[in-house]
Amino acid sequence: MSAKFRSVVRGVGACLPERVVSNAELAARIDTSDEWIAQRTGIRQRHVAGEGETTVTLGTRAASRALARAGLQPAEIDLIIVATSTPDHTFPASATEIQAALGITQGVAFDLQAVCSGFVFGVTTADKFLASGSHKRALVIGAETFSRILDWQDRTTCVLFGDGAGAMVLEAVEGGDKGVITSKLRSDGRHRAKLYVDGGPSTTQTVGHLRMEGKEVFKHAVGMVTDVIKACFEDAGVSAQDIDWFVPHQANRRIIDASADKLGIARDKVVITVDRHGNTSAASIPLALDVAVSDGRIKPGDLVMIEAMGGGFTWGAALIRW
Ligand code: ACO
Repeated sequence: MSAKFRSVVRGVGACLPERVVSNAELAARIDTSDEWIAQRTGIRQRHVAGEGETTVTLGTRAASRALARAGLQPAEIDLIIVATSTPDHTFPASATEIQAALGITQGVAFDLQAVCSGFVFGVTTADKFLASGSHKRALVIGAETFSRILDWQDRTTCVLFGDGAGAMVLEAVEGGDKGVITSKLRSDGRHRAKLYVDGGPSTTQTVGHLRMEGKEVFKHAVGMVTDVIKACFEDAGVSAQDIDWFVPHQANRRIIDASADKLGIARDKVVITVDRHGNTSAASIPLALDVAVSDGRIKPGDLVMIEAMGGGFTWGAALIRW
């Protein structure tokens, strides 16, 4: 079934906390080294939120920048989806807090929880709303402060993550070849214990800390993301050679390289930010998109593949004509 409206990207924006924490700084606090972290993950540094910086403040700034790039006023947005696992409060949704901060009083705003896959799930959800004609312009935001759910004594997890936010404005447009072409989402809760947070309102009444069986996650990641990407290729009738930019979730350089190689996507088409941002979960893809748009790599008409895999497990991919 072909939809009447396509969800066309009007702008992206990003916001990173001011403070940068290098691998060397972590090595001064826990038993790790720049060499170990860089070799295993590609990470050199990450941004960490300071006092007054939260998922909502970072998300609001990223959204404002995306709106400015799109040349739109907040009043023109009628759908806000915030992908986050680190909301400011258990409720209300960070989406309604960002909605209020932007001065938006119309439309609908809600959070979406798919951990690191959240941005791909958010783009896909917004696309369904826009394609149906029920909504006109969406803000999809990935915003996280994982530093606040890390166990800073656990060297197997705390070196991997960072904070930040990214946003994308999508607009429903009739006809043309731009916009979200196809997307594929998957979840399999049998893997829930491999990557989780050991707290929550209904269990411990605490926020909890991130726990991960890194090797297990690694083992599944490449197969899962390449499966959904291949399904997108098939759906859209395109091949790896047609892709202009591959913008994967930035968890680990080795996972990214192995996925690109398995698909036959040339390394020079892969956007990498994990070295500077670490893993910012749902924020990592829009942060990377913002970097590649700002430095002139992603241009109108380019074919862009985004993909992610995360806790749940959840995973997904979306193909976008910029
Ligand atoms: N510094 C130094 N040594 C460390 C550190 C550290 N920060 N962390 C672990 N080690 C040690 C371990 O204790 C172990 O020591 P041992 O051999 O004496 O027992 C050794 O290094 C090897 O540990 P492994 O866990 O086997 O290391 P591995 O090569 O698997 O790398 C890593 C670990 C980087 C976590 C890897 O498994 C990985 O990237 N997994 C995927 C994780 C991921 O991407 N998660 C996010 C995806 S989903 C989402 O984004 C939420």
